[in-house]
Amino acid sequence: MSITPRFLDELRSRVNLSEVIGQRVKVTRAGREYKACCPFHHEKTPSFTINDDKQFYHCFGCGAHGDVIKFVMEHDNIGFMDALEILAAQAGLQVPKPSPQEAQKAKKEKDLYELLEDATEYFQKHLLEPKNQDALRYLIERGISRETIAEFRIGFSPDDGQALRSYLIERGYKDADMIKAGILKKSTKGGPPYAFFRDRVMFPVPDRRGRIVAFGGRVLPDHLRPPRRSDFTPPKYINSSETPLFHKGRMLYGEPTARRAAAEGQPIILVEGYLDVISCAQAGIRGALAPMGTSVTEDQILSMWAMIPDFTKVPYLCFDGDNAGAKAARRICDRVLPLLEPGRSVNFIFMPDGEDPDSLIKGQGAAGFQKAMAQSVPLFDFLWNSYTQGRNLKTPELKAGVKAQLEDEVAKIAHKDVQSYYKSQLSRKISDFFFSRSDFGNGNRGGSWKNKPQAGRSGMIPVKPRSPYAQVKTLFPKVLLAGVINHPHIFDDIEEILTGMVFANMRHEMLKQLLIGIIADDPDIEGDKLVEKIQNSGFTQEIRDICSESVYVHASFCSPAAAKESVQSKWLEYYSDGNAVGLEEEIHNGWMRAYLDSSEEDEERLRALLSMKVSDNDG
Ligand code: CTP
Ligand code: MN
Repeated sequence: MSITPRFLDELRSRVNLSEVIGQRVKVTRAGREYKACCPFHHEKTPSFTINDDKQFYHCFGCGAHGDVIKFVMEHDNIGFMDALEILAAQAGLQVPKPSPQEAQKAKKEKDLYELLEDATEYFQKHLLEPKNQDALRYLIERGISRETIAEFRIGFSPDDGQALRSYLIERGYKDADMIKAGILKKSTKGGPPYAFFRDRVMFPVPDRRGRIVAFGGRVLPDHLRPPRRSDFTPPKYINSSETPLFHKGRMLYGEPTARRAAAEGQPIILVEGYLDVISCAQAGIRGALAPMGTSVTEDQILSMWAMIPDFTKVPYLCFDGDNAGAKAARRICDRVLPLLEPGRSVNFIFMPDGEDPDSLIKGQGAAGFQKAMAQSVPLFDFLWNSYTQGRNLKTPELKAGVKAQLEDEVAKIAHKDVQSYYKSQLSRKISDFFFSRSDFGNGNRGGSWKNKPQAGRSGMIPVKPRSPYAQVKTLFPKVLLAGVINHPHIFDDIEEILTGMVFANMRHEMLKQLLIGIIADDPDIEGDKLVEKIQNSGFTQEIRDICSESVYVHASFCSPAAAKESVQSKWLEYYSDGNAVGLEEEIHNGWMRAYLDSSEEDEERLRALLSMKVSDNDG
């Protein structure tokens, strides 16, 4: 018996098209039909219709059209027989044994997968052979455990152009298929095809269902493989070229692991390379994924969103902390903005200088990475920062210029609702920033924030700002504290001011006292050590509040990323500007009230701290 039209009809009528589609994309009823956003092209308003009576779907946007079998094949990216198996299981039917021709066709489909599976096993086996111990040693040197090697099926391709080929020919595979699968290359010199990956550590690339569809191969480092030629360095990584099973721009390395992690509620994190994914996973950060040597595509962004089962889908994207990283992040913004939808966005993680996720985890463990994650920046803030930070925005023309640039960015958002929220957040931000503290911080000189907001400017800025003065008032102590906490080296030069001022907020005042005590004890302490000490003394909440991106955006000099040399002068400038508009005094007086209103316990602690300071000075 074979697969007859009758069987297919039976199958189609036993499953419900809208239900099968509804298991994969969100479907809504529209009269006698159903509608959905087409899974085969990107759209915001549904033009994909499903008709259960006629048993077909049709997309008026891209023309995708077919029955339930075709849908499952295309959506799940699987072959005909696999689709039948899935649907038959759902319908409670048994798929008949295929005819010889059908079997032939299905076999061809399966062949490539099997071929790559066998190649994977071959590479895995060779990694463990004594004569290839260099490769294993390299992985161990990099801190990759045996279990991780097994889990990611890491292998080694020997430096022999024919070994893999003969091994696979013996198992019945044809040269043509090995070439098609990307593991052999045709010889240009008339010889037999030869291995594409030679003398490389092999990272098999699984598709979302875990089937191997490609490889990345890494050279061994110089100390294990001294360069053979001075005029040529082989590329550190080579990847399989595009094959019928492998579309670089659509896939991400680490998919099956990350999908499972996302289903269990772990965050999805895009990192740069194979070893970043692997190190993250080994450290328990299992939602990591990487593109394979290409820049991130729309498909990959959509695919990350699709992996996250919640309504709110905000994967993290990791970048180097340097200029190149910021540039790469900007490029991704261009891709992401047009795709934004309610509940969907991205967060940016910037690595500390010179680190990648792999090295960060090696140096500081998962906690180090989580710390970087905790400082991630939402898309909106990233855009804002990248246009305002470190720029001179003193004149109306320059302000208008930045406003226009940001508005151009927002205009890239295709979704109407999301765009309008961006617009209103942008105008709020602009009015807060330009018209209250204006050039304050952010690498600009001058204290033009002294010019209090003018009445009647609402014609220009549609959103009514909150009292900017009040906002600056709360910001003022935080910026000053953050500046010292992140850059204790400035303490010598500002000590007099800092000790002389009293913060209105009880907790800030206590924190200040503590801070002075710690630095007095250890004048060479680094910012991160200082943060840790303060946190450990019960000021976790305050640190979170003060050492925060929401403070740094107003005065970049107080952020840990600010250039060391310039912090001190900017701090003083900020302070004297604030002083000039009476902030210091206001805070001073406010402190009396705060002191009187405080709890006994707080008061006790403050007294203790103060007396400590006094006796220090005496002694
Ligand atoms: N990559 C690639 N092809 C290259 C170079 C890099 O596909 N010719 C991709 C790989 O996915 C690799 C990632 O980019 O994992 C990062 O490569 P690289 O910048 O060279 O990173 P390193 O951190 O130096 O590499 P590793 O951690 O493997 O030592
Ligand atoms: Mn690396």
